[in-house]
Amino acid sequence: MLFLLTIIGFLTISSCWSEIFSYNPPKNLSQAIIIGVKKCGTRALLKFLSIHPAIAVASTELHFFDSYTNFQHGLQWYRAQIPINRSSQHIIIEKTPSYFINKSTPLRIARLLPDAQLIIIIRDPITRAISDYVQLRNRHRFYPSFDDWISSSNFTQRTPVKIGCYTQYLRRWLKYFPRHQMHFVDGENLIHHPWEELEHVQTFLNLPVRIHREDFYFNPNKYGFPCLRQTNGCLGLNKGRRHPVIANQTRNKLNDFYLTCNAKLKRLAQINFSWI
Ligand code: A3P
Repeated sequence: MLFLLTIIGFLTISSCWSEIFSYNPPKNLSQAIIIGVKKCGTRALLKFLSIHPAIAVASTELHFFDSYTNFQHGLQWYRAQIPINRSSQHIIIEKTPSYFINKSTPLRIARLLPDAQLIIIIRDPITRAISDYVQLRNRHRFYPSFDDWISSSNFTQRTPVKIGCYTQYLRRWLKYFPRHQMHFVDGENLIHHPWEELEHVQTFLNLPVRIHREDFYFNPNKYGFPCLRQTNGCLGLNKGRRHPVIANQTRNKLNDFYLTCNAKLKRLAQINFSWI
């Protein structure tokens, strides 16, 4: 009986993998994935890219590569989550920020979509940590202040702080993907000059530049964050939230911690953002 169950299990798993690997994507369809980083502006980036006539985007985070259950559905299922609505669309893009830190994801993407173009948006890790903290605090009523939270001796072990040391995760990605298949977006500049970052992404994707400065305005009701001129062009209430003012001591402590990480990032990714 046990033997029979083992055989059935094996056949199920292998048929699933063969289904995953035998999928032939439609010709000329290419795939880009915004793999992270959480709280760096991933939603804004995807929304802005969605107005390009050649791009089709997934409306939700698919968690295909970082969830074993979803991954079992196969590539055909994955692709079906990103419907192509216009004949001009030939690049499909999804964003799932947890891919960046998930251990299994780089290998899974490399095996299934070795040509995928990876987009990584990063921002000043201090602002990123505050943003992550604000999200947590909004979920838990009695949360300590950010300054108290960072004053503890093990603050570097807190996930929202750890994530900002981007290189520890980036190293894993570089084992499976060449640097030229990755593009880094400056999350700080995406807030101030979104058209510049969008131009770089369109060039990286080999697309004609169709998203321009005139497509944006800065909304005072949204703390000055950029929105698209199109209807519903701003992000929802849970994006672009007010951040607490933090003490100089806290900022200095985080600056010291991120100094080495940022220097490594500059070397590893060969990028030079203003905050690095
Ligand atoms: P806050 O809400 O803490 O300000 P993500 O989409 O990856 O979760 O990132 C959320 C962050 O994107 C927001 O964090 C905000 O700072 C930033 N952001 C960048 N451009 C934005 C925009 N146009 N509208 C709102 N938030 C934007």
